[in-house]
Parts: sequence; C-alpha cells; structure tokens
Amino acid sequence: MSLINLIAILLFPEIAFSSSDSSSFTFNGFKSANLSLDGLAQIMPNGLLRLSNLTKQQTGHAFYPTPFIFKNSQNSPSTFSFSTHFVFAIVPQLQPLGGHGMAFVIAPTNGLPGSLPSTYLGLFNESNNGNRLNHIVAVELDTLKSSEFNDIDDNHVGVDVNGLVSVLAKPAAYYNSQTGLFQNLTLNSGKKMQVWIEYDGVSELINVTLAPIEVAKPSVPLISLRYNISPVINRIMYVGFSSAPLLTSHYVLGWSFEINGIVSRPLDLSRLPKLPRIGPKKQSKILTIGLPLISIVSLLICAFCAAYYVRRKWKFAEVLEGWELDYIPHRFMYKDLYIATKGFKDKELLGTGGFGKVYRGVMPNSRIEVAVKRVSHESRQGMKEFVAEIVSIGRMRHRNLVPLLGYCRRKGELLLVYEYMPNGSLDKYLHDQNPKFALTWDQRYRVIKGVASGLLYLHEEWEQVVIHRDIKASNVLLDGEFKARLGDFGLARLYDHGSDPQTTHVVGTLGYLAPEHTRTGKATTSTDVYAFGAFLLEVACGRRPVEPKASENAVLVEWVFSLWSKGEILGVVDPNLGGDYSEEEVELVLKLGLLCSHSRPEIRPGMRQIVRYLEGVVDFPELSSLFSSNGVAFAYNEGFDDFNVSYPSSTQTAFTGSSSVANSIIYSGR
Ligand SMILES: *[C@@H]1O[C@H](CO)[C@@H](O)[C@H](O)[C@H]1NC(C)=O
Ligand SMILES: *[C@@H]1O[C@H](CO)[C@@H](O)[C@H](O)[C@H]1NC(C)=O
Ligand SMILES: *[C@@H]1O[C@H](CO)[C@@H](O)[C@H](O)[C@H]1NC(C)=O
Ligand SMILES: *[C@@H]1O[C@H](CO)[C@@H](O)[C@H](O)[C@H]1NC(C)=O
Ligand SMILES: *[C@@H]1O[C@H](CO)[C@@H](O)[C@H](O)[C@H]1NC(C)=O
Repeated sequence: MSLINLIAILLFPEIAFSSSDSSSFTFNGFKSANLSLDGLAQIMPNGLLRLSNLTKQQTGHAFYPTPFIFKNSQNSPSTFSFSTHFVFAIVPQLQPLGGHGMAFVIAPTNGLPGSLPSTYLGLFNESNNGNRLNHIVAVELDTLKSSEFNDIDDNHVGVDVNGLVSVLAKPAAYYNSQTGLFQNLTLNSGKKMQVWIEYDGVSELINVTLAPIEVAKPSVPLISLRYNISPVINRIMYVGFSSAPLLTSHYVLGWSFEINGIVSRPLDLSRLPKLPRIGPKKQSKILTIGLPLISIVSLLICAFCAAYYVRRKWKFAEVLEGWELDYIPHRFMYKDLYIATKGFKDKELLGTGGFGKVYRGVMPNSRIEVAVKRVSHESRQGMKEFVAEIVSIGRMRHRNLVPLLGYCRRKGELLLVYEYMPNGSLDKYLHDQNPKFALTWDQRYRVIKGVASGLLYLHEEWEQVVIHRDIKASNVLLDGEFKARLGDFGLARLYDHGSDPQTTHVVGTLGYLAPEHTRTGKATTSTDVYAFGAFLLEVACGRRPVEPKASENAVLVEWVFSLWSKGEILGVVDPNLGGDYSEEEVELVLKLGLLCSHSRPEIRPGMRQIVRYLEGVVDFPELSSLFSSNGVAFAYNEGFDDFNVSYPSSTQTAFTGSSSVANSIIYSGR
C-alpha cells in the first residue's frame, strides 16, 4: 500500500472502501462513488444508490463510468471470466400493486438511451428487443409476470441475452445448505438480498446465486447456465444497473465487480448504507399509539423522579447559614447520620435524656461507631453562640470525657455526634440487679477517680471554665476498657475564667442540685462539686440520691449523714459489693461525698483538692471538726429546707416519674 493510499484511508475512510483499479472495484455504499447516472437514478446522501422515483414511470440507469476489457480482441471466441456481487432491495410502496424489476447489465455503452420502462426494464424498446446487435447481457430480477416475454412468474431471476425473453429463468430462491433444498425468496419483500453473478470463460458457465442478506453465499447457485456469451460481448463493455420501477423503489446498497477472477475484495456488509424507513402505516401506528403511550409513560417517570428527588431533598434537608461555613469541618451531613442510624430506628436507640434521644450509628464510609444525640430546638436565637460552643467543645480532648465529633443542624433540630461508648452508662451498673452488670469496688473507685479527673479538666484545665451542670451516674459512660467518660457536657455553659456566671434556667437532676443552685438559679463549679458529692454517695451505696418510693431514708445524703454521726458509716455500703472492698477507700469516698454535699458552697472542696484526696496525695481532714465548727446540723438542715422550698408541688411529680428537673434547653436563655 502506497503512502498516498494510506493517507487516503486515514482521511476518507469511505473512499478506501470503494476502491477500484482497472480490473475491479468495490463499493460499500456509494457515498463518494463516481457513477454514470441517468433517469431516475440518484445517490442518496447516506450513500444509497436509488434507481427509482415514485412520481413517474421512467427508467433509471447507473453504470460504472469506465469500461472493462472483456476480450483480447473484438472477434475472440472466448470472454474473460468475471464476477460481481451486489446487495439490493426492492421496496414496494403500495402492496400488492407495483412491480417491474431491475437488472444487472453488461452493455456497450454506459447508458441505455431509448430504452423503455415497465416490462422492458429499461433495457430495450419494442424495436430493438431481441436484436442480436444489442450486445446486451443482463440478469433480471423481475417482480412482474409479462406473458409477452414468456415470464415464468412474478418473482423470478432470469438470464437475458439481447432481449427480454430469458435464456433461462428460475423462481427466486436460494439454496439452504442445512436442508439441502431451495428456499423461496420474495424479491419485492423490501428486504435486503444479495446476488452473485459469475461467468467462467473456460467452461462458459453463467452462475447466478441469490441469498438473503444474513446468509453467506450458498454453495449451490440458483442458476447455472452453460452459455457462450462471447458473440454478444464486445471487447470493451460497461457494467451497471437498469431499473424500471412502478410504485416501487429499487436500491443498490453495495457492489463489487472483478474481471478475470472471483471478487477478491468482498463487500463489507456492516458498512453498507441503511435503507430509508418505510411503511407509513407502521409509522402512523407508532405515532397514534406508541407516541402518546411513550409520552405518558415518560411523563409519569419524570413526575416520579421529581417526587423522589423532592422527597429526598426534603428528607435530608439541613440548615446551613453563612456564619457556619467556618465550622464545616465539624459538620456532619444529615444524610450520613440518617444512614448511620438506619433512619433513627428505635432499634438503634441508646437512651432518652432530658434533651433528646441518643442513637447508635455506624458512619457509612468510615464504619466508625458513633452516638447521635437529637436535640430539638425551636428558636434560632443563640444558635450561633451555641454552635461556636459545640465546636469549641469538639476541640476538648481528655481521657475521661466522651469526645464530641461534630454536629449537624436541621430545621428545628440539632444533632450532636459523639464517639460511641460500647459499655453504656454507669447508671445501669449501679442499679440493675442483673449480675452481668456488677462492678467491683476497684472498678468503682477507678470510675470515681476518672470522673473527678474529667471534671477537674472542665473546671480548671481547659482554656475556659466549663460547668458541666448535670453530673450524675447516667451521664457517666464506660468505654471499652470500663474507663469512665463524662458525657453530655455539650449542655454545659461556658464561662471565661473569672467572669461572672449568668443566671439561667435551672438545669440538672433532682438530688444532684445544690441548694443555692435551686435558690439562685446560678450554676457554679461548686454546684458541680455538690452533684459530684451526690454521685460519690450513689456509687458507694448503690442507691440513687433520692429514692422517692422509699418510706424512710428517701434522701441518701441524709441517711449517710445520720449513720456517720452514729459512727456506723460502713452500714450504708452497697450490699451488692458483698463486703469485698477497701474500708479505707470506701470511707474516704463516703466522707468526701458528705463534704461535697455541704450546704455551704465555700466549705466544699475544689476539684483539684478532691483529686488529691482520691489519689491519697493529701490526707482527708477530720470531718466532724469541719461540720461542727460551722454548725453542721443547722447548716445542713437549712440547706435542706432550701432544697424543699425550691420545689413547689408541680415539680414534686418529678420525684415519682423522671428524675430530670428541667427540660428546657440550656441555650434557650441566651
Ligand atoms: C423524482 O424525480 C423528479 C425528477 O427527476 C424529481 O424532481 C423528484 O424530486 C424526484 N422525487 C423523489 C421523491 O426523489
Ligand atoms: C467521473 O467519471 C467520468 C467518466 O469517466 C470522468 O469524466 C470524471 O472526471 C469523473 N469524475 C471524478 C470526480 O472522478
Ligand atoms: C430503441 O433503442 C435503440 C438503441 O438504444 C435506439 O437506437 C432506437 O431509436 C430506439 N427506438 C425507439 C422507437 O425508441
Ligand atoms: C416456491 O415457489 C414456486 C414458484 O412460485 C412454487 O411452485 C413453490 O411451491 C414454492 N415453494 C414453497 C416452499 O413455497
Ligand atoms: C457454477 O456452478 C457450478 C454448479 O454448482 C459449479 O460447478 C461451478 O464451479 C460454478 N462456477 C463458478 C465460476 O462459480
């Protein structure tokens, strides 16, 4: 292959497939073919050769423009072998009317002037039909029975020499190699069919083979005619097609020809042009039934998709305001939280606190286990400050705090995402009688020290003073190693070091609330210490600070105090411990609990001091001196009076039901 050919292939692939030289050509479609056309013949934009036109009854001819040499000399008794292969389609426009066929023709001119349409197939006219000076050999594909030319039927293939009375004609059929039989074909079925015409110059045999487009060349030809065409064939002849349609369209899709041999470059059937869409009836059916149906269905699909999209959008809608953009790294997508908690299923519910429900979840991508707290909020007031607090809290890292991982905000709802604590809250270990939740004294003591350490961090070690406000057993969580983690400090108010605490709604849990807290509504580090004292007693005694149902000794601290004054303090120890504990440690915890529960906040130790006591770094002071010197009984009773006074009858219900006093949200006061 020459360089120019190669470039031609690259630039004009369709040219490359319609190659030709002096003895052969191949057209896979006629897009760039230079054919001699006359009459109705035309090449359509897609490369289809159309030999007819419905409006007039005329002829159409398409010839290869250059002639071929068929003989060595004009009078030579032998003609060169040749072969041709083409794909055609006869498409009737009005069945069953319409007809007249087409023909492959070898002629002395590249056109057939004076020829007639209809039964003459554009090959001859009444004066020259059958004249041996015509020098025409044709293979007709006839779809009309013309009795004047002895046609055998209206669907035949015939070999014509100089005239329309065929030398040999056969009903259109092809050899089926599987059945070994000839199978009828309908020429004007509108289907694509192939024809192979071969002439063997030595044996003087004309073979015509027919087959549907999808069938490979059959091994047995339809027509095999021994006939010496040499007297008819001139030395130089043209090859082409003739057509005389009547209410039909004749198409040639591809064509190859070769002289002196079998076609060496077969047609590439996959590259042939497409037939135009036919059958207006079919189209109208599509238009009248199919189109409306399709549009209705697609309309429904669209509506469904839109509804789904809107629903999804609504379902996963979040609230994100401009000022929040800085906090994006701390934000979770609601969709992820929704997937993580399986749509906030009840099955994933870990617990219900005063501020909302907590769900267990597994984040979709990272597979990290989280606890998601849903806090409902109505007002947008103070939201900015609250989110800032949350983000600030999210930066806190202490081994005894539950890490806050981030948040998400929706309309009327705030979601806080915490690290998941596999062993749950301490509450159930203290109060559930199930032995699988039993905790030894050593474990309890470690929990106490852990909570003290976490609280010290909040009070003194973080950049701001953080008051927890709701220290209680159910807010102490146990991680995988049963280490205590203080949770729910997302509800705490933050105060800058040294600044005055603001007054706000009382938040906390009955039995853990310091008397001055309920009186003034002010939460301080001392009120946290008071709650921690109640917690100490709870852990050591295995009893809630207030047992509303108990007929006597309903208030734990009162009971512990009374036994302590009698010198029988170990009588309050949790019987579930079975006496297996360090008396020294238990006594320390109980006495520390009493000290922290002192009604006068200035007597209560600070968290740093408490940690020192628990670690044994500092000796615990003589409790009786502390209480007596300040008039313990009076002070204590006074504190307790306050406690009772601060709870009018409406809140007394809290004793019997939930122990949570305030359900107002911390930030609502801002
Ligand atoms: C039929 O042939 C005439 C004359 O050649 C032409 O004007 C007309 O457009 C053709 N019709 C079609 C359908 O090609
Ligand atoms: C087409 O063929 C004719 C006849 O051989 C010739 O005169 C003409 O130049 C050819 N045109 C092209 C574009 O090849
Ligand atoms: C018949 O065809 C021949 C050859 O093309 C032509 O010379 C002749 O004039 C035609 N006769 C009629 C009557 O058209
Ligand atoms: C095939 O066509 C011929 C001629 O039209 C007819 O005689 C024959 O019965 C047909 N065969 C089949 C199987 O249709
Ligand atoms: C023509 O067909 C006959 C019979 O099938 C076969 O023997 C012969 O080889 C064929 N000739 C050509 C040129 O294909």
